[in-house]
Formats: sequence, C-alpha cells, structure tokens
Amino acid sequence: MSRPWPVIVLGGTGYVGGEMLRLVAGHPQLVLASAVSTSRAGGAVAASFAHLSPSYPEARFVSLDTAVERLGDAPHWVVLSAAPHGASAEMVVRLLDAADSAGVELTVVDASADFRFSDANAFEGVYGQPHSAPGRLPEFHCAVPEHADRIDTPHAAHPGCFATAMLLAIVPLVQAGASTTSFHVSAVTGSTGAGRTPRVTTHHPVRQSNLFAYLPLAHRHAPEVRALTRAATGRDIDLHFVPHSGPLSRGIHATIFAERGSGNDAADLYALLTEYYAGSDFVGIELDPPRVKDIVGSNYARLSVTAADDTIVVCSVLDNLVKGAAGGSIQWVNRLLGLPETLGLTTPAAGWV
Ligand SMILES: NC(=O)c1ccc[n+]([C@@H]2O[C@H](COP(=O)([O-])OP(=O)(O)OC[C@H]3O[C@@H](n4cnc5c(N)ncnc54)[C@H](OP(=O)(O)O)[C@@H]3O)[C@@H](O)[C@H]2O)c1
Repeated sequence: MSRPWPVIVLGGTGYVGGEMLRLVAGHPQLVLASAVSTSRAGGAVAASFAHLSPSYPEARFVSLDTAVERLGDAPHWVVLSAAPHGASAEMVVRLLDAADSAGVELTVVDASADFRFSDANAFEGVYGQPHSAPGRLPEFHCAVPEHADRIDTPHAAHPGCFATAMLLAIVPLVQAGASTTSFHVSAVTGSTGAGRTPRVTTHHPVRQSNLFAYLPLAHRHAPEVRALTRAATGRDIDLHFVPHSGPLSRGIHATIFAERGSGNDAADLYALLTEYYAGSDFVGIELDPPRVKDIVGSNYARLSVTAADDTIVVCSVLDNLVKGAAGGSIQWVNRLLGLPETLGLTTPAAGWV
C-alpha cells in the first residue's frame, strides 16, 4: 500500500464535515491533515465532535490560511468540501490556485451545490447568486457515482441527499424507457438535513413526533435532479417534488411515482433495477419496501419497486449525511485516486439507533 493521502476537510464543524472526519478516520488510505473551520480555528475537533475523540484526541481545527500554508508538505492532497454553497467554491478555488502555484496536486470532491451545475447561469437561476468561479466548472463532474462509469475531470461534485435518493430510482427507469418521463416524488428527511445551525423547524419540540411538508414543488433539488438526469441519460424529465421534515435525526425515505412504459410488470422492473445496480456494492434492490434503519450511518442505499395498473412506485432510502453527502464524496475520492470504490465505506448500518 502507498502512503495515505493527506486530507483537507472544509466546513469542518458542520454535520457533513463531521461525517467526513469520521469516515476519513476509518479509511486506510486517507489521513486527516487539515480540518478547516472558519468559526472555531484553534479549537479541538473533539470539543465539536465528542464521538470522534478516540480518533482525533489531539487534532485542532485550522484556518484556511493554515491549510494553504501546509500545501507544500505533500505532493498530492485530497480536499473534501462540506462548506455551504457560495463559500465552498471560493475556498476550493483558493486551494486550487495555491496548489497550482506550489506545484502540488489536489483531488477535490465537493458536497455543496457549487459544482453541481455545469452551467454558471443554471446555478445562478437556482441559487440566486452569480457563480464565483465559472472558469473552474469544467474541472468538475457531478453525478451519483453509480451513474458515471468513467469521468474525465480531475474533480467531482456529489449531488445532494434528496437528489441522490431520487436519482437512484429515476436514472435507470429513464435510461431503459421503462417509465414515462414525468415523476412525482414525496420524500421525508431527518433533521440533520438542515445543518447544524438551529432553526425553528429543527427545534426538538417542533420536530419530534411531527411530520410536515416544506417548499412543495419549489425545492432547489428539483432543478438539480432534472439537470443530472439529463446529464446521465440525455433525456429531459418533469419532476414534481414535495419534501417533508420527519421525526428522525438522519435518513431519507423517498417515494417516487411514475407511469409505466408498456409491458413492464413489477417483476420486470425489479429485474431491471437489479441488473442496473448489479455492479454496485452500495445500492441494493429489495423485494419489500426498505426502512430507514436498514441504512442509517452507512453508505448503503436500498430501493424497492412495485407496479399496478399504470403506476410504478419506487421506494428509496439512504443516509443523508453518508450516501447523500460524506460517504458518496469519499466514494468519488476512491474512484478519482484509483482505489477500490468501497475502501473505508463498507461498515454496515447500526440497525438500531
Ligand atoms: N446536511 C445534509 O444532509 C447534506 C446533504 C448533502 C449535502 N449537504 C451540503 O453539505 C454542505 C454542508 O451541510 P451541513 O448540513 O453540514 O451544514 P452545516 O452543519 O451548517 O455546516 C456547514 C459548515 O460550513 C461552515 N461555514 C458556515 N458558513 C460559512 C461561510 N460563510 N464560509 C465558510 N464556511 C462556512 C461552518 O463550519 P466552520 O464554522 O467550521 O467553518 C459550518 O459548520 C452544504 O453545502 C449542504 O448543502 C448537506
């Protein structure tokens, strides 16, 4: 085995950043070098994440300046970004420019929205702000790893958590022409999906034992799923998406409704999805509807499919912080570094959390 690649994590004190730190700690070929924090530089990692203290008893968050200064210490770095959109591209580009000047190599995977669109105007249309680094967009490919056999960019962006749950169902159906191209999705997420900053809708008395929709037909993930489906299949879809906040900390359950293409019964659709994901270690197709507890804390996603009359229903579950963010990002890192795609990611779900 070669020496481990040093890793820089951006947005280090956030929920996704914490999951990146946890997964890096268990990865045999990655080692944490700089956990970057804009708010807690100098603070102990274990003070923000007590559960990570066995892995990082001494580690401290650093500023982006310190991470930049350290670039000369190694020839090839991995950057995982869990910073918010807008801030992420600025930080990533600062590192890329500094790496170019220092003559060192970076492999970047961004979990934010900043490199999900290949077109800066599309980003501005959805996020309401100009993209800060349109010249860098061609260096990133955004896809669910299972939907891109090979990429020819040096860096990758991971789709969002809801988007990953939807795309896992939609892309194979569209690619095979097994459904029409109009999709309705109702999906429930846990409270970690909203990030670490407390809000009225993430407060425990509001959230526990409660279930409510938000941004019906107006969530930013819908245009992202349309664009990423087009990129993966070459086909346009209609998507009608209603997200819900559920009484969970983590996990997503998405129910995807479509109209059947002619001739596909439930067994055909099950065979189609099973064959599509036959080479994937992380996506399992089940006969019975999957449950969130089957996957929470893991990089595994599970899907089931059924059909009656004209309707297809796919249920898709994954952990928003792992398969939907940090774990999917590390899958991309493994791929980009030429490592086995499953390295450091095969711990099963806890089951009872
Ligand atoms: N939560 C999810 O389920 C999920 C799933 C998929 C993708 N994502 C994406 O992953 C990213 C992180 O999400 P999250 O849920 O972990 O959010 P979060 O808990 O709010 O964490 C984001 C972190 O970014 C840093 N940050 C905040 N404002 C910043 C700024 N202006 N400039 C630079 N850094 C700033 C903060 O860390 P420091 O103070 O330590 O710098 C903060 O802890 C977001 O882009 C989000 O869209 C989230």
